[in-house]
Amino acid sequence: MNKFLVIGNPIEHSLSPKLHNYWIKNHGLNAVYDKKKLEINELEKIIIDIREKKLKGINVTVPFKQAIIPFLDKLTLEARSTHSVNTVYIDQNRVVGHNTDIEGFKKAIEKINFNLSKKTVLILGAGGVVPSLIFALRKMNVSKIIITNRTREKAEKLKYLFKNTKILEWGKLIPSDMIINATSLGLKKEDNLELDFSNLGKNKFFYDIIYNPPETNFLKKGKELGHKTENGKLMFVYQALGAFNLWHKSKIKIDDHAINLLNK
Ligand code: ATR
Repeated sequence: MNKFLVIGNPIEHSLSPKLHNYWIKNHGLNAVYDKKKLEINELEKIIIDIREKKLKGINVTVPFKQAIIPFLDKLTLEARSTHSVNTVYIDQNRVVGHNTDIEGFKKAIEKINFNLSKKTVLILGAGGVVPSLIFALRKMNVSKIIITNRTREKAEKLKYLFKNTKILEWGKLIPSDMIINATSLGLKKEDNLELDFSNLGKNKFFYDIIYNPPETNFLKKGKELGHKTENGKLMFVYQALGAFNLWHKSKIKIDDHAINLLNK
């Protein structure tokens, strides 16, 4: 039986096993997908398990997406460009790190038919997911990417990695076609970004990476102001699907049942 894992810390709340085991069952595959909480000094051992074929592949989540890199033999372009690995697999006896958060975000935006070409995007936050967002946004031909983060230094690091991004002082906002909340503020229901969204103009797109709770205060505010809103649920499903199709060499598509699995 082929074994898969998602590793992270914390990991209890990960919904990846639900999605993968649903697809595994649905396609009659001889596989199982589990979750495991790890400490940073256990990363090397997990990669050895992959080398020794005890594990067929793993997903990597917070806080190890970057820390896993030194133990891998090869990175795909996506993982290399973002310094972020969420999917690990074996290819010709080499352990490869890949990043499906990029396609997760891109496909989620395409699924809802939002055309980002030539648009301006403002990203709130500069944490682990942001390089993947920037990589995807560039693929979607946006004209401008602006990053604003409480700790400016982290935004500067991103600007160094992705040259044609701009930095805006935290607390200021400028009119943009899309505003993405990539901070962790919103994970708790009462979390509130102390930003004034009232001068952004009309018909903008408020996007939150967070999908639980399904409507953060950021999205609520966006809706109240008459903007289009979307949470990160589809992105999460698509990144999982990307890993699934890679490991199982399949081409399955997103389905409503999978999306609904995340509603609990
Ligand atoms: P990491 O920064 O370790 O990658 P993350 O969860 O990926 O962690 O990112 C958290 C993001 O939310 C960061 O951009 C963080 O801002 P800082 O870089 O200043 O820490 C942002 N964030 C978290 N709490 C915040 C708060 N109370 N106000 C503003 N931004 C916050």
